[in-house]
Amino acid sequence: MIFEVFHLLACAAVLTGAFYVPLNKRNANSLSEIPIYYKNVCKVEANKKGGDDVPEILKQANKCNGGGALVFDTEDYLIKSPLNLTGFENLDIYIAGNISLYDDPDYWQDKLLLIEYQNSSTAITIGGTNVNLYGLPGHVIDGKGQNWWNKFNNKKNQNFYRPILLVFDGLVNGVVDGLNLLNSPNWFNLIANSSGVAYTNTNIDVYTVNDNDFYNTDGWDSYRTSNLIVENATINNGDDCFSFKPNSTNIILNNLYCNGSHGISVGSIGQYYGVTDIVENVIVNNVTMSNADYGARLKTWAGRPANSSKTDAGGGLGYVRNVYFSDFTVENVGQSIYVTQCYSAGSLATCYEYPSSLVMSNVFFTNFNGTTSGKYDEAGTMVCSSPSVCYDFFTKHIDVVNKKNASDTFFICSNLGDSELSVSCVNSTSQGGLNNGL
Ligand SMILES: *[C@@H]1O[C@H](CO)[C@@H](O)[C@H](O)[C@H]1NC(C)=O
Ligand SMILES: *[C@@H]1O[C@H](CO)[C@@H](O)[C@H](O)[C@H]1NC(C)=O
Ligand SMILES: *[C@@H]1O[C@H](CO)[C@@H](O)[C@H](O)[C@H]1NC(C)=O
Ligand SMILES: *[C@@H]1O[C@H](CO)[C@@H](O)[C@H](O)[C@H]1NC(C)=O
Ligand SMILES: *[C@@H]1O[C@H](CO)[C@@H](O)[C@H](O)[C@H]1NC(C)=O
Ligand SMILES: *[C@@H]1O[C@H](CO)[C@@H](O)[C@H](O)[C@H]1NC(C)=O
Ligand SMILES: *[C@@H]1O[C@H](CO)[C@@H](O)[C@H](O)[C@H]1NC(C)=O
Ligand SMILES: *[C@@H]1O[C@H](CO)[C@@H](O)[C@H](O)[C@H]1NC(C)=O
Ligand SMILES: *[C@@H]1O[C@H](CO)[C@@H](O)[C@H](O)[C@H]1NC(C)=O
Ligand SMILES: *[C@@H]1O[C@H](CO)[C@@H](O)[C@H](O)[C@H]1NC(C)=O
Ligand SMILES: *[C@@H]1O[C@H](CO)[C@@H](O)[C@H](O)[C@H]1NC(C)=O
Ligand SMILES: *[C@@H]1O[C@H](CO)[C@@H](O)[C@H](O)[C@H]1NC(C)=O
Repeated sequence: MIFEVFHLLACAAVLTGAFYVPLNKRNANSLSEIPIYYKNVCKVEANKKGGDDVPEILKQANKCNGGGALVFDTEDYLIKSPLNLTGFENLDIYIAGNISLYDDPDYWQDKLLLIEYQNSSTAITIGGTNVNLYGLPGHVIDGKGQNWWNKFNNKKNQNFYRPILLVFDGLVNGVVDGLNLLNSPNWFNLIANSSGVAYTNTNIDVYTVNDNDFYNTDGWDSYRTSNLIVENATINNGDDCFSFKPNSTNIILNNLYCNGSHGISVGSIGQYYGVTDIVENVIVNNVTMSNADYGARLKTWAGRPANSSKTDAGGGLGYVRNVYFSDFTVENVGQSIYVTQCYSAGSLATCYEYPSSLVMSNVFFTNFNGTTSGKYDEAGTMVCSSPSVCYDFFTKHIDVVNKKNASDTFFICSNLGDSELSVSCVNSTSQGGLNNGL
């Protein structure tokens, strides 16, 4: 019964846009239309000698703030110093040309804008009230990741800052539409401190030309953000397609094609002792997940041993609830569904001994089709630390075939409290739920 009711509510939410997001449809679909719609149009003249375009961008943005349009023409722009485009009000930004990050990691180390969360950094941050970013056909925002991956050297050298391509910080009532994002040195998008954002019609792509692979290239991470919809995107990347980080609420993801990722993830959360993390009211609908480690994933940390002095080894407070995954097609995916409350616990015995203080409940998985990669014996995993902190899980219409042995398709399940599971569950092995580092 709960399932049917929530299913209807979730469908209605997707169809009617129950969470408020703005409808700031783009006015102009080409450069020539822009002057018709805006009194002030501020075109950024590209510095053609390979110099830094940031001072001119900031100058034009300030000129057109308050109702105008900032326009990147069909030219090449270079970002060679931090571009802080936050704090604007009523500004539409059109991008017709190519914007590239200067691709010298050493040059950037003492210049990047630092972000406290996860000790990360960026060269471009965007925010403000009623600020809209529209990509016109043919443009690319290019993170020029290759030199960063060369320096990273397949994780052999990790001790330097690699910027997130775009950080949306304090964006309130904004539309981000039509962007083509390429080769970010790190995550592609962090959406933080924001509300009322529609991020639509996006292309994300990443590739390497040598043996130095790309890492941490999440499509999106949401943090301290509510009322966000991400709709219609093609994502080719090498880490989470989308990840819900602490305090992500009222978020809809709809119509995504994810290729090569680690899946769509809630978390990890609950890592920091005594800190409250919340993920609530999340709908993820119509996703094709190809060549990925996981399909839909929730990863939270267990409690920590009472005599542990570490503050970043679990024991976080808060909850994950009302999370709804529907209409997933998986192709060559390690595990279709992966739920753990034992993230990084080391062993299941430790996890069960120190149950999570972060409660997971009302989590739905419905209409999953397709085939796993056959990498694992199991087609999915749902391992919790204790039934008292993990309950009301529902699976329905899960038609995923385990490539390893189609007639032996099963899930590893453990410690789920009151739940309705349609999948065939076996008791947890010593390994289930402990996969770290992905
Ligand atoms: C932007 O980059 C794309 C892809 O590399 C290219 O096709 C296009 O011509 C470039 N545009 C400009 C204005 O240089
Ligand atoms: C960007 O500029 C605003 C003021 O306009 C400032 O408050 C904010 O701290 C800056 N952001 C970063 C990351 O430096
Ligand atoms: C943050 O990252 C930088 C660059 O990797 C590193 O040098 C620094 O030690 C890190 N700081 C913390 C507190 O982890
Ligand atoms: C978000 O807001 C908090 C509190 O104002 C601030 O400390 C932080 O720098 C902001 N940005 C990000 C990316 O967390
Ligand atoms: C997303 O794609 C669907 C199906 O093609 C379309 O109906 C919808 O209008 C698109 N949404 C946006 C915001 O462009
Ligand atoms: C589902 O998403 C795909 C993109 O992955 C899109 O082509 C398709 O139109 C969407 N289906 C519906 C019913 O919107
Ligand atoms: C998916 O990713 C694989 C591996 O990177 C790539 O070969 C393939 O072309 C991608 N498929 C699509 C449709 O982009
Ligand atoms: C998340 O929300 C909780 C509850 O409001 C709050 O205690 C916590 O500080 C928030 N976390 C962040 C990172 O803002
Ligand atoms: C306390 O810490 C020790 C050493 O790390 C460990 O062996 C023991 O299991 C812990 N005991 C409790 C009750 O947490
Ligand atoms: C799964 O397969 C069924 C039956 O073929 C179909 O009705 C449904 O739309 C499929 N769902 C997805 C998410 O592909
Ligand atoms: C596949 O699983 C079935 C059912 O458990 C079992 O009878 C069969 O031997 C397995 N096949 C292989 C090749 O392991
Ligand atoms: C499942 O395994 C756990 C520990 O590995 C054990 O305590 C429990 O009794 C088992 N449950 C069933 C139903 O076999």
